[in-house]
Amino acid sequence: ARGLRVALLGCGVVGTEVARVLLEQREDLAARVGVPLELAGIAVRDVEQPRDPVVPRELLTRDAAGLVDGADIVVEVMGGLEPARGLLLRAIEGGAAVVTANKALLAADGPTLYKAADTAGVDIYYEAAVAGAIPIVRPVRESLAGDHVRRVLGIVNGTTNYVLDQMATGGLDLAEAVAQAQELGYAEADPTADVDGYDAAAKAAILASLAFHTRVSADDVAREGIRGITSDDVAWAARTGHAVKLLAIAEQTGEGVAVRVHPALVPADHPLAGVKGAFNAIFVEADGAGPLMFYGQGAGGRPTASAVMGDVVSAARHRVLGGKGPQESTYAARPLLPPDAAVTRYQ
Ligand code: NDP
Ligand code: HSE
Repeated sequence: ARGLRVALLGCGVVGTEVARVLLEQREDLAARVGVPLELAGIAVRDVEQPRDPVVPRELLTRDAAGLVDGADIVVEVMGGLEPARGLLLRAIEGGAAVVTANKALLAADGPTLYKAADTAGVDIYYEAAVAGAIPIVRPVRESLAGDHVRRVLGIVNGTTNYVLDQMATGGLDLAEAVAQAQELGYAEADPTADVDGYDAAAKAAILASLAFHTRVSADDVAREGIRGITSDDVAWAARTGHAVKLLAIAEQTGEGVAVRVHPALVPADHPLAGVKGAFNAIFVEADGAGPLMFYGQGAGGRPTASAVMGDVVSAARHRVLGGKGPQESTYAARPLLPPDAAVTRYQ
């Protein structure tokens, strides 16, 4: 049988690890899918840049649009709004399944992509966009689609969790800890997105949209990051029996949906206080299921590539066997509390 052509957009922290799995686990993947997954090419900005030896130089191209055309599955791990958005739409309109880790794009303009994918009858998967390796998108999007989710709460940004942890135990200040998080591949290309809570807000918007079957964009989220937190603050919190954690909270109340991201003092004996390094933890509360907890590595190349590859295998199986991944919900227009209302209400 013909192999499936996989176009990889981006070869940074995540893209390199996706390429590694596609190339080194080729036979296993072929056995799982039924046909080989052929890495057709890898789009980058700079083909001359030194890269991990696993990346074959001849697969690199600056012609991302050309690579997308003719692909069966397009994996977008380049980040940013454009050209990622245009390339994904091009892929979808050309009949390819798409897999993306790009929470910033999904939280800004996901519905345009979801609608295009539904119209074209192709898969759009984005497990890696929220909480790295942790399976959370699929459970909320699919497993809980018949339940009534009340609340999603937790730590969804690995960089800030790592930074707060280093400030508490490693004696580092914020800037030093952010530099380490960048070195370890946890941070966004511009770590302001992590430090100021934009990344967590994007993930909260994606989860709230799925959990409450409504449309929440990053702009709807009340957001405060960790920039103002000092080592002294973290030390004071520890002396009083607390850990400082950046929390994302999405709730459906009688008045509407409220979504917010802010630092919080978490009692030392609470499970969230024990979430260290770049790990994430998310609690979901649903009427039928009751409380659920999801925990694992929230950032980094290999953990994120695991989530990406799960999506690639799902999309590939649909190509081979027929069928399609989940449709987006028919969105209900739920009242959305404005960000300042959410803050006032829950302070
Ligand atoms: P990096 O900055 O490490 O890599 C980005 C890659 O995309 C680079 O190879 C870069 O090319 C390429 N690229 C960027 N812009 C363009 C462009 N205009 N045309 C062609 N290629 C381009 O990012 P990450 O791997 O860390 O993140 C990628 C995506 O995954 C982002 O959306 C991020 O939010 C998301 N993500 C990241 C996680 C992580 O832990 N790092 C976890 C979960 C999601 P070049 O190499 O030539 O510069
Ligand atoms: N920069 C993000 C984080 C990557 O630190 O959580 C994972 O989405």
